[in-house]
Amino acid sequence: MSTDTWSPTSWRNHPAEQQPQWPDQVALDDALKTLAGFPPLVFAGEARALTAQMGEVAAGRAFLLQAGDCAESFDDFAADKIRDKLKVILQMAVVLTYAAGVPVVKVGRIAGQYGKPRSSNTETIEGITLASFRGHNVNSEVFSAEGRRADPARLLTGYHQSSATLNLLRAFTKGGFADLSRVQAWNQEFVASSAEGQHYQEIASGIGRALQFMKACGIDTASEAQLHQVDLFTSHEALLLGYEQALTRRDSLTGDYYDCSAHFVWIGERTRQLDGAHVEFLRGVCNPLGVKLGPSASAEEVLALCEVLNPERQPGRLSLITRMGATKVRATLPPLLEAVRDSGHPVAWVCDPMHGNTFTSGSGRKTRDLNDIMDEVAGFFAAHAAVGTWPGGVHVELTGDDVTECLGGSSRTLDHHLDTRYETICDPRLNGRQALDLAFRVSELLGAG
Ligand code: PEP
Ligand code: CO
Repeated sequence: MSTDTWSPTSWRNHPAEQQPQWPDQVALDDALKTLAGFPPLVFAGEARALTAQMGEVAAGRAFLLQAGDCAESFDDFAADKIRDKLKVILQMAVVLTYAAGVPVVKVGRIAGQYGKPRSSNTETIEGITLASFRGHNVNSEVFSAEGRRADPARLLTGYHQSSATLNLLRAFTKGGFADLSRVQAWNQEFVASSAEGQHYQEIASGIGRALQFMKACGIDTASEAQLHQVDLFTSHEALLLGYEQALTRRDSLTGDYYDCSAHFVWIGERTRQLDGAHVEFLRGVCNPLGVKLGPSASAEEVLALCEVLNPERQPGRLSLITRMGATKVRATLPPLLEAVRDSGHPVAWVCDPMHGNTFTSGSGRKTRDLNDIMDEVAGFFAAHAAVGTWPGGVHVELTGDDVTECLGGSSRTLDHHLDTRYETICDPRLNGRQALDLAFRVSELLGAG
């Protein structure tokens, strides 16, 4: 696997897991051709800026907050949904920055998270078997023959919805909404009334006072862009390789290829085979990359992935996102940390405390318990402390809505509450209060380190 044999289509000679069965090949080819003619969603220079910031994470000088939906929905196109998700991410980032005193790199699972890997190709309900839901870029979560049909026209909708979402995010983050003097305004009503919301309010007041103090000292806070704007990068799982290929462009400045569907793209736990199509495709694009690692990942596999995806050992190029499960992280993570440390590969280690902690509750809902999530994060920090590596960040699934999908936390969501507002189209997400709870816990762990 040397780079000279790579091309944007070389993945087609490798086995590709988790690809949908598109019933109409001609329609698929047409859609991909149309996409290839569309403008890039992000620019190569932006992806390079994120690689530089991720290099700071790999070096132990910054912390990554990667957060957003498990699966974004085509039905959630209202501006307030995106704004509310952004508010939660900004709140978490403020808590981490202020309480733990580290720069926080902010990356959304947003503006393109429309393709889902599934553990089974089909789903059976009351004797009827249909294709599984694979994300809105492929089909619908509605359990009907029509709903579950893979429709290539959805790829075009996915592009346009990503574009509209990104446009709004750019406006929110650069146009005043993310101004640090508005830090209080990101506290949504349902969050503000909780203990975490009040704790957040104290931080917000502290920041307000600090800004006043700086002004009173004669510092021209108005001209400091850092106080008025935020960099929020986009990311998603690079699952549907035809789509990713169609949005891949050669950068006119460097001649390098970038997957311009998002700033950061990752390979999922189910598609990280060394000789597989996903690894082949992503090794040739210059975006910052992630790879998910579950409890079965061996040190040899991880080192081989580092060699293939980051042969030049560029800091910030590769993040390893571990999702071991709260009961396994303390045993499975340290050998991987040691092996990568000893190899000298400069990776950013990120904890996904969501995907190893999903279970079906007594009421039959797929859920996660905030205690398990916090416990996996604590285990992740403990493993890094033991090995002497930097716990570089967290990767979480959340929403700005006051949903009841995960158990526990200050919102005291119990099993019999799950039905009240269970709205996810895929995995259960933290609501705003649970997300803030988690941010405070992570900032304690960071502060203790
Ligand atoms: C996800 O991030 O939604 C996901 C499916 O994760 P993983 O590949 O780790 O299972
Ligand atoms: Co998920």
